[in-house]
Amino acid sequence: MARDHRSRGHAGLAGFRQDVIAGLSLPQKALPPKYFYDAAGSRLFERICRLREYYLTRAELALTRAHIGAIARFAGKGSILLEYGSGESLKTRLLLHAMRPAVYMPVDISGEALRRAAAKLSREFPDLRIAAVAGDFSRPLELPGFRGRDRRVVYFPGSTIGNLSPGEAQAFLKMTRGQVGPRGAMLVGVDLKKDAGVLHAAYNDSRGVTAAFNLNLLERINRELGGDFDLRRFAHYAFYNAPLGRIEMHLVSLAAQSVNVGQHRFGFAAGESIHTENSCKYSIAEFQALAAQAGFRGAKVWTDRRGLFSLHGLIAD
Ligand SMILES: C[S@@+](CC[C@H](N)C(=O)[O-])C[C@H]1O[C@@H](n2cnc3c(N)ncnc32)[C@H](O)[C@@H]1O
Repeated sequence: MARDHRSRGHAGLAGFRQDVIAGLSLPQKALPPKYFYDAAGSRLFERICRLREYYLTRAELALTRAHIGAIARFAGKGSILLEYGSGESLKTRLLLHAMRPAVYMPVDISGEALRRAAAKLSREFPDLRIAAVAGDFSRPLELPGFRGRDRRVVYFPGSTIGNLSPGEAQAFLKMTRGQVGPRGAMLVGVDLKKDAGVLHAAYNDSRGVTAAFNLNLLERINRELGGDFDLRRFAHYAFYNAPLGRIEMHLVSLAAQSVNVGQHRFGFAAGESIHTENSCKYSIAEFQALAAQAGFRGAKVWTDRRGLFSLHGLIAD
């Protein structure tokens, strides 16, 4: 076992403060979803993945299990495997077993979740070389281990790509296309368009875990930036915006109020919201068109039996 941890491209506390002040100053207040994932947020997300209503994880696990032989052949046994937004590396285990990569490089903004996952993986895969990188994939990352002559494959499961706008997703795919090089490939998990009721339930679970995950962002601002958000005066709100093909998550102010973050003061009207996340849904054709614009050919697509979720195998064109 070889385990190696690096920290890359982190804007740290100053970047968090800057983004929060800028986001709360917008006419439609908004916060980047990457800040959900402090230690508490990562644990809440892991609970979301196990909820009855949150079909995404189960569907992606099922399709990965059902097609693992073909997925591993597509990735190429012995390749270098880089995973963006790896979290607890749940689905990755299936891939690691089947493709035995030369090196596994999980990249995540949540240092705590990354360390926990890497420690667990190194117990489960004692011969695997793990090079964990705590970093932000929304800015250029130095990844010296992701070079060389071995085939390079990027794995991006969980529909994290849906949290990017289509323009951001295209830029992200372009960056990845450059990283994997001409013989490289990418495996991307993408949530499919479907009945709005199913989508609504997935982001409004009956146990309130998604609400706690959303509200934790305000708690994090209070804790790390000296904010005074009163969490009882904000409510989780998620809905499917059909024309834009995305779930939107907001935190709605339940009263007219003002909130301080350090030296900055922000006014809220009753009913005004902070837009905290988008989760874009794509048909297979829509996603393949997006990937093509970034220089990838959609070579394979796997879906679960119920057609809820897709895993795209992209080849550098
Ligand atoms: C929707 S979760 C998916 C987790 C896991 N891949 C899965 O399939 O269940 C998003 C993951 O990406 C990470 N993440 C979000 N934004 C990020 C960023 N800008 N840079 C690096 N990691 C990020 C989060 O910490 C979290 O682990």
